[in-house]
Amino acid sequence: MPARNGHSSETTEAGGVSPQEPLIDRQLELDLLRQHIARVADTGKGHAVLILGESGVGKSRLAVEAAAEARNRGMAVISVRCLGRGAEPLLPLKEALAAYLGRTPDQIRRTLARAAPHLLDAVPFIGAFLASIGEKLAEGSFSLRGVYEELSCILIKATSGNAGLFLLVDDLHAADPDTLYFLNYLFRKLRQVPVLVAATIQEEQLSDYPELADLMAEWSATGHVTLTVVPLERAHVGEYVRMMSATGEQADESIVDRLFRLTGGNPFFLRKQ
Ligand SMILES: Nc1ncnc2c1ncn2[C@@H]1O[C@H](COP(=O)(O)OP(=O)(O)O)[C@@H](O)[C@H]1O
Ligand SMILES: [Mg+2]
Repeated sequence: MPARNGHSSETTEAGGVSPQEPLIDRQLELDLLRQHIARVADTGKGHAVLILGESGVGKSRLAVEAAAEARNRGMAVISVRCLGRGAEPLLPLKEALAAYLGRTPDQIRRTLARAAPHLLDAVPFIGAFLASIGEKLAEGSFSLRGVYEELSCILIKATSGNAGLFLLVDDLHAADPDTLYFLNYLFRKLRQVPVLVAATIQEEQLSDYPELADLMAEWSATGHVTLTVVPLERAHVGEYVRMMSATGEQADESIVDRLFRLTGGNPFFLRKQ
């Protein structure tokens, strides 16, 4: 099993979400994600789950919790954090692969030797690939399809010593176009490989990114799944207040009412109160 099995990137993998804080509710959503993980690990056939919801509602947190479940089932976890639509082409994937494989050629070699020895021959290529893919793309000296093919091969093969791969893509609405189209390419291959992609998407951003909205319609028409995360209910806001209070006592109902009214049950706003 690769040494850098995603653990080190846990704190940065999804918007700085801290999995140490108590998780309120989300049992239904986590159960669903567990089923998706089990399906991929058991059948070897992958798919994508698009985790959709308003900003601060808890999409990244849910994805991080699911990643921990996947890791417990022996899946490799790679976390991709989209950096903005104007970012260097494919930079989020390069960063995620570098974090997974290690940054130096020696680390890459050691990780691949354990995970996928047959990829070792490709090490010089991978090192060069990680370093220069952006330039090559900009120059137009790589065929995009060739780059996508190699990249999906590296992702899948580098994790083949595991029960599958859980690929967390955080903030897909902030993906540069190449990352978006690479993922579209990968999604079409998922049926044949044990890869579960969990991608978080901020709903408010969709109207500004018609290419993503179009792809999402295509993805759901081809069997990928959308999981919509809604704000916490009033009772769960009460639970949040109780868990956060130093004494752990039941919260005053009027305080819960006020917090629910102020925050609409959005965990990000609850934390700010
Ligand atoms: N169910 C929850 N219980 C407790 N805290 C939560 C829950 N969901 C989210 N949070 C916290 O609220 C904040 C915002 O959540 P986050 O997942 O970053 O939102 P999003 O990705 O939808 O913008 C984070 O600090 C996160 O840990
Ligand atoms: Mg987020």
